Amino acid sequence: MPAANFKIEPNILDYGQFDVWRAKGNPDSNLLSPEELDRLHAISSQNARQIFLLSRCAIISIVKYYTKNCDFISELHTHPGGKPFLINLPDLHFSLSHTGSEVALVFSRSPVGFDMEKSDRRTDFLSLAKRFFTAAELAGIVAADMDSGSSFLELWTAKEAILKLEGTGISGGLDRARILSESEGDLDGRRVHLHRIEWPGLIGKLASFEKPVAVRMRELILQ
Ligand SMILES: CC(C)(COP(=O)(O)OP(=O)(O)OC[C@H]1O[C@@H](n2cnc3c(N)ncnc32)[C@H](O)[C@@H]1OP(=O)(O)O)[C@@H](O)C(=O)NCCC(=O)NCCS
Repeated sequence: MPAANFKIEPNILDYGQFDVWRAKGNPDSNLLSPEELDRLHAISSQNARQIFLLSRCAIISIVKYYTKNCDFISELHTHPGGKPFLINLPDLHFSLSHTGSEVALVFSRSPVGFDMEKSDRRTDFLSLAKRFFTAAELAGIVAADMDSGSSFLELWTAKEAILKLEGTGISGGLDRARILSESEGDLDGRRVHLHRIEWPGLIGKLASFEKPVAVRMRELILQ
């Protein structure tokens, strides 16, 4: 059963505003619910455990910030496709991404998808692109030549962000998420807005059906 619904504080996150939070610091496992603690303890890799803990504590802290509720206990549930959501805050949407030891989240009042990768990530991008990208997308990567690794990551993060917006993730079909320009994509004929996020060494893409009015870069340091 969901706990009582919480309210977002007025003016703290308006419709059309997207907050991009980069989370760092020392998360406290005491913040986790018993279910999340079970999940934490089931993770064998120490880095993955740390990332999980950081991301969960970040969600809890950010939700408390938006609701001004110090006693908020997050009830995280997962849609059948894998997208996590807050059951007692239907009006607050978020998307989470981690890479290496980095965790970042986007919060908004409407559905959002976010993906980030290390910009120096090396992978066999051409074979991935041949498999998952449209002919036009592939041609763009090949034309970029020396810079094709970063061109690949630009498209890849955009496609993942679109599929995370939908809630299907990569299994939804990367070919369905088409990238039309730096700021525009398409999912089965529905227009998607794209916004590029950059930190040193990291690139990210935010995808939304609603056009962003403002994208605010924020930092969360857990102590
Ligand atoms: C599940 C998937 C969304 C994971 O993406 P990813 O890039 O590996 O990892 P990210 O850190 O960006 O995202 C993971 C988070 O997305 C969220 N997520 C998971 N499934 C999701 C879905 N269907 N819809 C939206 N969000 C989802 C979760 O919050 C998850 O973190 P958690 O498990 O700690 O809760 C999926 O698209 C996938 O499997 N991707 C494979 C990535 C890959 O092969 N990359 C290589 C080329 S660069």
